[in-house]
Amino acid sequence: MANILLIGNAAREHVIAETILRSPQKPKLYAYMAAKNPGIAGLAAAAEIGPYSDREGIKAFAMKHNIDLAVVGSEAPIAEGVVDALKEVGIVSASPTKAMARLETSKGFTRSLMQKYGIAGLPKFRICSTMDEAQEFAGGLAEIVVKPDGLTGGKGVKVQGDHFATKEEGLSYAQELMHKGGSVLIEEKLDGEEFSLQSFTDGTTVTDCPPVQDHKRAYADDKGPNTGGMGSYTTGRLLPFMTEQDLVDAHGITVKVAQALKKELGKPYVGIMYGGFIITKDGVRLIEYNARFGDPEAMNVLPILRSDIVELFRRMVEGTLHEMRVEFDPAPTVCKYAVPKGYPEHPVKGEAVDVSAVPKDAMLYYASVAENNRKLIMSASRAIAVVGIGRTIEEAERLAQIAVESIRGPIAFRKDIGTKKLLQKRIEHMAAVKRR
Ligand code: AMP
Ligand code: GLY
Repeated sequence: MANILLIGNAAREHVIAETILRSPQKPKLYAYMAAKNPGIAGLAAAAEIGPYSDREGIKAFAMKHNIDLAVVGSEAPIAEGVVDALKEVGIVSASPTKAMARLETSKGFTRSLMQKYGIAGLPKFRICSTMDEAQEFAGGLAEIVVKPDGLTGGKGVKVQGDHFATKEEGLSYAQELMHKGGSVLIEEKLDGEEFSLQSFTDGTTVTDCPPVQDHKRAYADDKGPNTGGMGSYTTGRLLPFMTEQDLVDAHGITVKVAQALKKELGKPYVGIMYGGFIITKDGVRLIEYNARFGDPEAMNVLPILRSDIVELFRRMVEGTLHEMRVEFDPAPTVCKYAVPKGYPEHPVKGEAVDVSAVPKDAMLYYASVAENNRKLIMSASRAIAVVGIGRTIEEAERLAQIAVESIRGPIAFRKDIGTKKLLQKRIEHMAAVKRR
């Protein structure tokens, strides 16, 4: 029997918790959360609430419960160096150290690493620390993307045509970022279809989950402001706009980046490497890496993971992932998020949601909700994720849609995620990009 510590309090950690408890090893789950997620707390043998910066508190909680292995679900505690802190008391983690997590926390680090090791899949980019540099580089590009070189919860990236109209406006945003301190990444704007490839790795062997497509925009038809992700789908195999070669190429990039990290840092990267890729006219390009599962993407792949995740985590730590055959049910899944009305710009706060009418054939994961007098109370962020698993994507979508509609309260959701119509739009967009 193993004692597993899970750190994080999002819906992603709720599904990780559930997957850990499906292990035939019958592990005991312990949870450390910045805010109490009632879903995770209900599954854990013991839970502690505290800030992710409290390294001593996390160590003490882990030692008290004789933790054998830890897993950190979200980026904030990874960036705080929670894995390093646990290491100080001899506790291993299937998640990266602070130094390794630069893969996510510094976009410049990852771009430079790929360049240094000659890894394909880079857009044209430059890390700029002066406006002269930024202006000169932007001058040579048709359209630009401006990114701060740090962890911004996906909110600091601005894309020409989406967030600003002209290059000059983009450059004034770059100036604003420079004033705040730190360097700025200027990149060529890529056009194509995006997908998420989440991979387990021990630093050498890279084992992929089925590719997933997330939907960042708040409203149907990809309108409205960007969010953490309103929902996502997988077919269990290739996405409908993707070729086998696209997947092979994305996998190859992740393998090479893992190798480069090992060479550069002298140790293997242990954890999840989640590549955000885009299929362009000229092939697959890397947008960014995250050092953790995606949220919502974790909810698409973990419910269909057939293999024992505890064994997977252990092998990642021990460096023996190559000895394990990791299997998924080849089933399509659709995840839809219920968010507070008005999210993300003017969300209602503190309103109750009732999930009692959600049918049992859909999976339900708690995100930013608190339990108060047996009521679920929403905060200002994504509240509840539902997942439909079907024999076909239509069936999975229908289950997810019925489930999200059954949630009572002042919520919003995207009806179009996983529908035939939206999938067809993706296929047509991809075809149009390739014709250009
Ligand atoms: P990131 O935080 O790097 O994942 O960027 C957030 C979003 O910005 C991505 O999911 C893309 O939709 C978009 N984006 C980032 N870089 C580029 C790029 N070079 N070209 C086009 N879109 C981009
Ligand atoms: N779905 C986007 C993320 O997890 O970063």
